Amino acid sequence: MESRNIDELEFIDDALTPRRTKKSALPSPDGFKTYFSSQDGNFELYHDDCLELMPLFPAESFDMIFADPPYFLSNGGITCHAGKMVSVNKGKWDKSKGFQGNYEFTKKWLSECQRLMKPNATIWISGTNHIIHIVGFALEELGFKILNDITWVKTNPPPNLSCRYFTHATETILWAGRDSKTRHTFNYKLMKALNSGKQMTSVWRLDAPSREEKIFGKHPTQKPLALLERIIAASTNEKELVLDPFTGSSTTGIASSRLKRQFVGLELEKEYLELSRKRYKLEFIEYGFSRLLNIKIKDNEIVKSSKNLSFEAFEEVAKI
Ligand SMILES: C[S@@+](CC[C@H](N)C(=O)[O-])C[C@H]1O[C@@H](n2cnc3c(N)ncnc32)[C@H](O)[C@@H]1O
Repeated sequence: MESRNIDELEFIDDALTPRRTKKSALPSPDGFKTYFSSQDGNFELYHDDCLELMPLFPAESFDMIFADPPYFLSNGGITCHAGKMVSVNKGKWDKSKGFQGNYEFTKKWLSECQRLMKPNATIWISGTNHIIHIVGFALEELGFKILNDITWVKTNPPPNLSCRYFTHATETILWAGRDSKTRHTFNYKLMKALNSGKQMTSVWRLDAPSREEKIFGKHPTQKPLALLERIIAASTNEKELVLDPFTGSSTTGIASSRLKRQFVGLELEKEYLELSRKRYKLEFIEYGFSRLLNIKIKDNEIVKSSKNLSFEAFEEVAKI
C-alpha cells in the first residue's frame, strides 16, 4: 500500500474547524505539555515513561483503562513472519527484567492505574503467558475485582518453528474493576446484538490488524482496531475518558475517538507517538470523521457513505 505524507494533510486540519474548536478539558499531568492534542480536545498524547507521568495526574480521573504492557519476550528468540525467519525482539522496552523486576514493574504501574480510576472504572490488560500471570497475581494482590478473562483467538497465527510447542494462537485479556465495590459498566445488549443476538462469550475470534491499519508503518505489537472497539463499546459510554499508559500506535485512542469517547495516551518512544499522530490525522482529518462509522465531510456537510456491518448494528443498538 502506498505510504502517505501527513504534512499534506495539515491544511485540512485547519479547514475542518466546526467540530474542532473546543479547548481540552481533559485532566493533565502537572507541568507537562502534550505531545499531540486534537483540535476538539478529546484526544491527547504525552511523551514519557508512564511511571513518571501517571503520578502527576489527579486521582480518579479515568472511566476505563486499556493497558498493553511490555510482554518481556524480546530475549533473542526467532519466529516466522510472512514465510521468513525474523527476530522476536520488539525493542529495549520489551527486554525482560527477570521475574522479580517484571513483577515489581507490573505492580507499580497497576497501582498507579488504580489510583487514577474512578470508583466504577474498569481496566483491561492484554498479554501472553510471558506476563499475564504476573499481571493476574498483582491484580489480586492490589484488590482489583477480576470480571472476566477474555481469550483472543488469532485467526492467522505464525507457525511454531521449533515444532516443540503448540502454535501460540491466543492472547489473554483480563478485565477488572477498581476494587470489590466497583459497579462496572457492561453494555450487554450491544454485545449480544454484535454477536447475532446470542450472549457474547469470553472467546473472541479476531483477525490481526489489516494492512490498512498499518498504512504509516506498523508498531511491532499493534493491536487490531476491532479488538479495541469491542472492549471500549462493551465497557464505556459516549464522552467517557479512556487512558492507555502504553499507547504504542494508539489503537486504543483511534477506537475511542471512533466511538466518541475521550482519550489520553502515554508512550516512551517518540517514533510510536508519531505513528499515533499520523493515524489520528488520517482517520479524523483526511476522512472528515471515521471510516468505520463511514461518515465523510463534503461541502462542510457530514455525508454518510458506504455501509459497515458491525457498526450499523452498533448504531441500531445504540438507539435502544
Ligand atoms: C505492547 S506495546 C503497545 C501497542 C499498542 N497496543 C498498539 O496497538 O500499538 C507497548 C508500548 O509501551 C511502550 N512502553 C514500554 N514501557 C513504557 C513505559 N514505561 N512508559 C510508557 N510507555 C512504555 C513501548 O514503547 C510500546 O510502544
